[in-house]
Amino acid sequence: MSNKSLATSAEKLCILVTGGAGFIGSHTCVELLAKGEDEARLKFYCANILDRAALESIFAENDIDAIIHFAGFKAVGESVAKPLEYYWNNIAGTLVLCDVSRAHGVKNIVFSSSATVYGEPEFIPITEDCPKHDATNPYGQTKSMLEQILTDLYVGDNEWNVVLLRYFNPIGAHESGMIGEDPKGIPNNLVPYVAQVAVGKLPYLNVYGDDYPTPDGTGIRDYIHVVDLARGHVAALDWMAGHVGTGEPIGLGSIKGEASPDETRRGVGIFNLGTGKGSSVLDVVHAFEKACGHEIPYEIKPRRAGDIAVNYAACDKAHSEMGWKAEYDLDRMCEDSWRWQSNNPDGYRSA
Ligand code: UD1
Repeated sequence: MSNKSLATSAEKLCILVTGGAGFIGSHTCVELLAKGEDEARLKFYCANILDRAALESIFAENDIDAIIHFAGFKAVGESVAKPLEYYWNNIAGTLVLCDVSRAHGVKNIVFSSSATVYGEPEFIPITEDCPKHDATNPYGQTKSMLEQILTDLYVGDNEWNVVLLRYFNPIGAHESGMIGEDPKGIPNNLVPYVAQVAVGKLPYLNVYGDDYPTPDGTGIRDYIHVVDLARGHVAALDWMAGHVGTGEPIGLGSIKGEASPDETRRGVGIFNLGTGKGSSVLDVVHAFEKACGHEIPYEIKPRRAGDIAVNYAACDKAHSEMGWKAEYDLDRMCEDSWRWQSNNPDGYRSA
């Protein structure tokens, strides 16, 4: 069966968002709804991407045009302890998803990848041309392998339309304070940990290393507001539809526009989604202190295994090709993160 054209679809564009209840997925659903037309609707399914029968009925019940694929396990440390679970869920799950999708004539997919595919980067800022290197853990390997698998799908069948979005460090929350990041157990990532120290659930932050070759000795990352990141997915759908650069506003409205089918893009687009600006661990601590209005206690600890000193993106490609650019700065990210954490000290469990 040939692929659905995003450009000529007469009906309302219908996007399957896997992992749509997760941190990035939920914010992306909000942005998709905001860009949709008046009668934009959200349908929720609780199903596993490994469950072929469940996917079959979702595709049968809905006239899906494209997939944004977030569903996957994402904890680095856990992936080392549970490689089988990680490879099975992330890789096999994506294979089932693509197989069912293809059978329904849907070959448009935006995939949630990660800057982790660059491993120890060969140069900074990292452009999309920076060579990939082996990830040091199964989680990272699944991202890298899935990029390859999706690329091979296109090589074997040029009707596939694939966008690989390589995220840097997503933080922050929706400005409403109603949705945000809700890690299970003790957070592994910096900002959720800082937020729990700020709200009094954890006593102090461990700063992993102050002897890196950086201005204050702590690790530098490219933190990006989750709402900016979510908007990057809307821009990616638009890019797929071949509409960027036409001067039209970015959004779902333009995907459903008048472009002829041959304007619809086919291929594999790879984009970094970051801000292009590096911030140290202590920069984050200080920005969070400003947001919450009190000091964040911390202790310097040894470096964490597998961490690199400096990691930030060059995002010119996403800007020039998709018309997308991050808008929010670190202060805003911390303010929104704090609003979510202070309104919901126990995450969704307190709602
Ligand atoms: C990590 C993963 C990466 C994954 C990303 C998802 C590793 C090695 N990398 O990125 O594969 O895609 O999360 O969001 O785990 N830090 C502290 N104290 C803490 C936690 C972190 O000092 O309690 C420091 C780290 O050393 C690092 C920075 O904060 O310099 C950011 O860490 P983190 O938020 O875990 O993200 P990454 O390690 O960049």
